[in-house]
Amino acid sequence: MKQIISKSEQETEKLGENIAKHLQGNEIIALFGGMGMGKTAFTRGLSKHFGVKDEVSSPTFSIVNEYKGKNNIYHFDMYRVNTWDDLYSTGFFEYIDKGIIIIEWSENIENALPENIIKIEIKRGSNENERLFNIKGFDEI
Ligand SMILES: Nc1ncnc2c1ncn2[C@@H]1O[C@H](COP(=O)(O)OP(=O)(O)OP(=O)(O)O)[C@@H](O)[C@H]1O
Ligand SMILES: [Mg+2]
Repeated sequence: MKQIISKSEQETEKLGENIAKHLQGNEIIALFGGMGMGKTAFTRGLSKHFGVKDEVSSPTFSIVNEYKGKNNIYHFDMYRVNTWDDLYSTGFFEYIDKGIIIIEWSENIENALPENIIKIEIKRGSNENERLFNIKGFDEI
């Protein structure tokens, strides 16, 4: 596990970009951490690396946003997903291996997550703008 401290939204976006540089294009990245922890900011940075021009925002109501860049990116928000039925109807399992999957509110589908994925837990640090990123399943940075 690796721990990285971010001191601003910009630093969190940069972290997303840095991790993106090492991805092959079919990874699953599960983000954990409550509201306002920077999951979307991280995803924005990651998408930027792949040349995504679309706006990156939490897909709370649509559940999944698809971004077309150098690789396909499927951005899920599981905030409203509570049951296996809910999860199946998002089409989640059909997206696996079709591109990079990045998931907000992974807490809600923890039991359904495949093995050997990248898990990132974000916690608040010692001040308002500090976030601690605990990264598992990824050793390239
Ligand atoms: N170090 C930091 N990294 C990321 N965001 C930060 C940081 N410090 C402060 N912020 C602020 O926290 C908020 C993070 O918002 P963001 O939408 O990325 O969170 P989120 O985890 O996706 O929340 P939600 O679960 O509601 O979708 C922004 O308002 C941002 O300015
Ligand atoms: Mg979000």
